[in-house]
Amino acid sequence: MPSADRPPSRRAFLDAAGVTVAAGLLAGCSGDSARSDRPVDPTPSAPPTPTPVAVTGRHQAGVTLPRSAQPHLLALVADLGETVPPGPILAELGETIQTLAAGSDPRLLGLSPGDVTVTVGVGPRLVQAVGATLPGATDLPGFSRERVDSRERGGDLLIQICAGDALLPPLVAAALLDQAGDRVQERWRQFGRRGVEVPVAEDRTAPRNLLGFIDGIVGPHTDAEQERDLWLAGPPAVAGGTLAVLRRMEIDLTRFAALSVAEQEAVFGRRRASGEPLSGGGVDSAPGLNAKTPEGRYLVPVDAHVRRANPTVVGVGHMLRRSYSIDTPAPGLLFVSFQNDLRTFTATLSRMDTSDALLPFTTTTASATFLILPGYDPQRPLGSTLFG
Ligand code: HEM
Repeated sequence: MPSADRPPSRRAFLDAAGVTVAAGLLAGCSGDSARSDRPVDPTPSAPPTPTPVAVTGRHQAGVTLPRSAQPHLLALVADLGETVPPGPILAELGETIQTLAAGSDPRLLGLSPGDVTVTVGVGPRLVQAVGATLPGATDLPGFSRERVDSRERGGDLLIQICAGDALLPPLVAAALLDQAGDRVQERWRQFGRRGVEVPVAEDRTAPRNLLGFIDGIVGPHTDAEQERDLWLAGPPAVAGGTLAVLRRMEIDLTRFAALSVAEQEAVFGRRRASGEPLSGGGVDSAPGLNAKTPEGRYLVPVDAHVRRANPTVVGVGHMLRRSYSIDTPAPGLLFVSFQNDLRTFTATLSRMDTSDALLPFTTTTASATFLILPGYDPQRPLGSTLFG
């Protein structure tokens, strides 16, 4: 930490301003070269303004956009009053999100909206009321290692707010709750923070999580993969949407930190420092699940997380993981995944449940799934395809 009488280094300033070090790394500037011998500028210039993210379009923002997820998240889960029709309130929330993202809502109290995104989903109760067979109508089953208070299981409405500025998510949440008034009752909320983003491919980064490992490497990253595994193709009421799963997972950091680095790497099946699979290759290489030592031992252990969760082995599509590290109510991860088939999540966790070296370090304390509504615009208000 810089002392009060010493100006912060440019690097410390950039980090404190929440600018991802990865941006520099992606531009071909290594961490070491960033720490150059040039004299430190005692009057650092203002941090660059984050690029705004489009609110309207075929898909909602906050799933694949921005490409590197913003460092701060607030996930807010609320219930809708039993007799409140979802259509009008969703349309109103969509309009409010547009004015908030445009910076023209006085409830932002003068803050610049920057790269804020708001992603809205509806829970199984609301989807079921429209059609019992629609994607999103099915709730998650229970799994092992859960300690979930009934208040923190499920919910009617998800409002996921992400931003580079840590002050925006609570302000935006307050504005949206104010807009909804007594038509909604907040159920639970969770703040999250992304670790430093690390480049994992030419045009992609992923953050470290609280266990020190790079998290979010494998997933549907190309347009074709996203059409196949992420976005719902139909029926028309949900086309362009996706299914979200949120699981707050406490992690026993003390027990994990007591393992040797090699033991920690065996838990995941990847190197801690570089993210490379234990079977070799680069960080972006697929784990070689058949690769063995000369003695016949699997390089990626049989209970390694990347083996148990591997989509080909499970027989499911790729899920887009966009998780955030948390510190309250206990250290851990707010696991967030998006996929167009809930089975992608349930079959993966069922397979992990029987033997995944990572799971014994975790306890799940909140759990919910939501249909992320299709994208919207002034002609096609938020929620209108489903509740219009
Ligand atoms: C505290 C909980 C968890 C932590 C810390 C965690 C962390 C990680 C890490 C570090 C990786 C390797 C790098 C990567 O590909 O991103 C990974 C891979 C993966 N995780 Fe998790 N994970 C957790 C829970 C889960 C859960 C609950 C699921 C789904 C049921 C899941 C699904 C996956 C999948 C599908 C992969 C990619 C596997 C592959 O094909 O290589 N993870 N996770």
